Amino acid sequence: MTLRHFLDLDSIDAETLRGIVDTAHAMKRAGKRVPEAMRPNDADTTVLVMIFEKPSTRTRVSFDVAMRQLGGQTIMLNHTDLQLGRGESIADTARVLSRYVDAIMLRANSHDTLIEFARHASVPIINGLTDRSHPCQIIADIVTFEEAKGPITGRTVAWVGDGNNVAASWMQAAVQFGFELRIACPESLRPDPAIEKWVKVNKGRIRITDSATSAVNGADCVVTDTWVSMGQKDADRRKALLQPFAVNEELMGKAEEDAIFMHCLPAYRGNEVTDEVIEGPHSVVFDEAENRLHAQKAILSWCLGA
Ligand code: CP
Ligand code: NVA
Repeated sequence: MTLRHFLDLDSIDAETLRGIVDTAHAMKRAGKRVPEAMRPNDADTTVLVMIFEKPSTRTRVSFDVAMRQLGGQTIMLNHTDLQLGRGESIADTARVLSRYVDAIMLRANSHDTLIEFARHASVPIINGLTDRSHPCQIIADIVTFEEAKGPITGRTVAWVGDGNNVAASWMQAAVQFGFELRIACPESLRPDPAIEKWVKVNKGRIRITDSATSAVNGADCVVTDTWVSMGQKDADRRKALLQPFAVNEELMGKAEEDAIFMHCLPAYRGNEVTDEVIEGPHSVVFDEAENRLHAQKAILSWCLGA
C-alpha cells in the first residue's frame, strides 16, 4: 500500500482532502470519545512520534490530545533529544523510527528535511509546519470557515500580510477546494513563485496585489499571520514593509458585513492585527485553534488508514 504521507496540499488529491475536512467536521460532532468505527485499526497499540525543530503550542498539544482521543499514544521529542541533533542522518533516523512507531509528525526548519524524512520512512510522515508550508493548519481553517459560513467552494478569502508558509498552504487549498484567494502583500514578500505557478497551471483563482483594501473588498474571510515567522532574522525590515498590511477595523469594514477574521496564532497584537479586530465580533480565532484538534484527528485517521 502506498504510504499516506501528509506533506502538502498539492500532493493529495482534492477528493481525499475534501474527505479529510468532512471527517474533521464529524470528529468535532463526535466529541472526545471517538467512536470505534472512526478509530484506526488496533488504535491501542498505535504510536505517533512528534519531532519539533521549532517551538509550538497548538500543533504540539492538539496532535497529542488527538492521538489519545483516537485511542493511541504519543512520544514528543525536541530534535536535540535525538542523535539527529548531533549528526545522525535523517535517512537513518527515519528508518529507525519507522521500526518503532506508526506515524511521524515533524515540525522542521527546512522543508527539505521533511521531504528527506518522507523519502526514507516506511510509516506516514505529517508536515507539522516547515519554512515552506503548514497544511494541517489550513485543514483546520477550512473547517472553521465552513462552520461559520457554509461550504468554502466558490467563496472569497483575503490573505493580508506576509506571503509566508501559511499563505502557501492557503494557495494550494484554493485550487483543491475551489475558492478565490486574494493575497495582499508587499512586492518583496510575495509567496514562493513556484507555488504561484502551480496554482496557475491548475487553474486556481488567485490574485496577488499590493493593496490590502482591494484584496479585502467584499471578501467572506480575512486572514493574516505574524510578520516574523520562526527562524526569520530580518524583523525590523519586515515590520517596516508590512505596516500597510495591518488588519484593523477600517480594513475589516471593507469585507462582507458578516465576514470572519482568522489567524493561525500566535498573534502579535498591534502588528499584523489590532486588538479590536482579534477580540471583535468577526474573529473566530479560538474556534480555529480548537479546530486544530478535530483536524488532527481527521489527518491522523487518514494517514493511519482508517
Ligand atoms: N498555529 C500553530 O501552528 O501554532 P503553534 O506554533 O503553537 O503550533
Ligand atoms: N508563519 C508562522 C506560523 C506559526 C504557526 C511561522 O512559521 O512562525
